[in-house]
Amino acid sequence: MRGKSILLVIGGGIAAYKSLELIRRLAERGVKARAILTGAGAHFVTPLSVSALTGDKVYADLFSLTDESEMGHIELSRAADLVVVAPATADLMGKLAAGLANDLASTALLATDKPILMAPAMNVRMWQSPSVRRSAGILARDGVQFVGPNDGDMACGEFGPGRMAEPLEIVAAIEKMLEVRGGALDGFKALVTAGPTQEPLDPVRFLANRSSGKQGYAIADALARAGADTVLISGPVEIAPPSNVTLRKVVTAREMLAACEAELPADIAVMSAAVADWRPDIAANSKIKKDTEHKAPAIRLIENPDILATLARHKNRPRLVVGFAAETDDVLANAVGKRARKGADWIVANDVSGNVMGGDRNQVHLITAASQEHWPEMSKTDVAHRLVQQIARQFQERS
Ligand SMILES: Cc1cc2nc3c(=O)[nH]c(=O)nc-3n(C[C@H](O)[C@H](O)[C@H](O)COP(=O)(O)O)c2cc1C
Repeated sequence: MRGKSILLVIGGGIAAYKSLELIRRLAERGVKARAILTGAGAHFVTPLSVSALTGDKVYADLFSLTDESEMGHIELSRAADLVVVAPATADLMGKLAAGLANDLASTALLATDKPILMAPAMNVRMWQSPSVRRSAGILARDGVQFVGPNDGDMACGEFGPGRMAEPLEIVAAIEKMLEVRGGALDGFKALVTAGPTQEPLDPVRFLANRSSGKQGYAIADALARAGADTVLISGPVEIAPPSNVTLRKVVTAREMLAACEAELPADIAVMSAAVADWRPDIAANSKIKKDTEHKAPAIRLIENPDILATLARHKNRPRLVVGFAAETDDVLANAVGKRARKGADWIVANDVSGNVMGGDRNQVHLITAASQEHWPEMSKTDVAHRLVQQIARQFQERS
């Protein structure tokens, strides 16, 4: 994780002193920390100590003209690779879960497009209170990751869950989130589909959609960087392929399915292509001409093969089958239904009613059999990186 940077939000709890050590442990590993200290946090550790350890100024005030001119709160929240909240107070958790932003820390947490890791620390009864349980549940569903709290003696004299994770545990959690360890997917074969398909009507016309292929290309690149032997099966798009993947270009849905089946067996299949559901039943050999009576031709559509369902039920089924659901309505309900119906392990669902198709950013939900995560809007490269981190984790847990 050398060269990475984190934004550390230090909340107002006794455990704030451990965050000073966290900064040192990160620095030893070549990770730069920039800190936001809440007003309450400054009662527990001084801005001077934090600043001396980060080697940077400490950000504390949302309304400071100097801070805003040097680095505005939005930029501050996005400049890092990861946002870490340690200690995460009941207050900070509740504010983020409720969407409140009345100081620099809570505003940065709402504004960030980077993953968030929280290290909660609080009295055991606070941690077990229904409100904090509710906040933790909402945050987990929103894609926030947690480390701790641990069981143990507390500063308040009680015993139970609520002690902040130790600095080295937090470092390990950061490491896991920041990096797909080089070679985490070494020895695994991945198959990625991307882009639209084009379904010919005649030699010059076709049915297609607006998919740019950017998300699938970014996923193929991230899988290859994690060490997977990656084959990218792409419909017609204009972007340059990543240098470290094997590219197979196809045009129609049937060609895409055949190319996928030819690449089996594989360990991982990420089906992000926007495959045309239907094709014209007849593709004319020569250009369809206007007739003299100007009667428009009737086009009959027939269903294309379902690539995701076919791979998910294949005798050489990849160990992990991930589908994409591009929806304009009822995104979550449709994605949950699609996962079950098609036999996929995970579905990455996104609302494509805006300019997601063709754009550089995406806001997705990761649906598995056990959970639903709602990721904040981020670049397609960051979505790819985060998805591959989850894939790598899944394969590490299984092996
Ligand atoms: C001595 C003392 C210790 C505290 N420890 C914690 C704690 O460990 N966890 C927590 O959630 N709140 C704790 N609080 C309460 C928070 O400081 C308080 O909720 C504050 O508003 C949190 O602000 P922040 O979330 O902006 O940092 C403590 C308060 C005091 C006076």
